[in-house]
Formats: sequence, structure tokens, C-alpha cells
Amino acid sequence: MSIEKTLSIIKPDAVSKNIIGKIITRFEDNGLYLVAGKLLHLSDDDAGGFYQEHKGKPFYEDLIKFMTSGPVFIQVLEGEDAITKNRELMGDTDPTRAIKGTIRADFANSIDANAVHGSDSQTSAIREIEYFFKAEEVLNK
Ligand code: CMP
Repeated sequence: MSIEKTLSIIKPDAVSKNIIGKIITRFEDNGLYLVAGKLLHLSDDDAGGFYQEHKGKPFYEDLIKFMTSGPVFIQVLEGEDAITKNRELMGDTDPTRAIKGTIRADFANSIDANAVHGSDSQTSAIREIEYFFKAEEVLNK
């Protein structure tokens, strides 16, 4: 076990439902600390650069359209095994397959409007945090 940082995005569906706080509470209640955060309305270029690994996949165009449809809350979470813990708390990408009690099972509508994104590995966490935050914007506890 080690202390890690991970990138989390509260997506436009969840922001428009006014449940940013409810989602952050899930993280806080499970030992993850918010060490950076910003509310942004992503441009096509912002979203395209972030999701570059999905370029060419059948869902890519819909993904960019959705992620630019309204503001998102982007945050860095820190804690023991933060990357895995965040993914467990989010649940399956497809909310119909997510276990009850996970964020996506409880708050998401569809695989596109699935409430949250979380880094899937140490390498993507570093890239994704640097994509949205300058070093001085991230608290070093
Ligand atoms: P996210 O974790 O943000 O990473 C890419 C997003 O693409 C994913 O969540 C889903 O919202 C969306 N998506 C839509 N269809 C699929 C699919 N078939 N497989 C994976 N991701 C998908």
C-alpha cells in the first residue's frame, strides 16, 4: 500500500444534478483527500487531448460531445491506494453493471453520462493530473 494521487472528474450529468458534494463525500468518507480542484467548461481541444487514447473508437465523438456539454469538476484525490480505491468507489464504467452503493450505480444514467472519470493506472494518473493542473495548484500534504 502506498499514498497515491489520482485524477477524478465529476462529469456534466452529475454537475447538472447538483451532486458534486454528494460525490466528494463518498471520497472523503473512504479516506481520500481533495488536494486540488477546479470547475471548468471543457473545449473540444481540452476534451480531445485528455481522451486521446480513445480517438478512433466508436464512442469517441459522443464522448467529446458529452464532456463539452456543460461544466465538469476536476479534482486530484490523494490517499492510500487512491487509484484503485477511486475506481472501486466509482464502480463499473457501465452503470447497469455497477455494484449497488458505487457512485455510478447510484448516480449515473448511462455508459456515456456515467457521472465520474478516474485514472486507471499510475502512468495515466500522472499524465492526467499534469494535463489539468500546474504543480503549484496541487496541495502537498
Ligand atoms: P471514462 O472513464 O471517462 O473513460 C472514457 C469514457 O468513454 C467512459 O468513461 C465512458 O463514459 C465512455 N464510453 C462510452 N462507451 C464506452 C465503451 N464501450 N467502453 C468504454 N467507455 C465508453
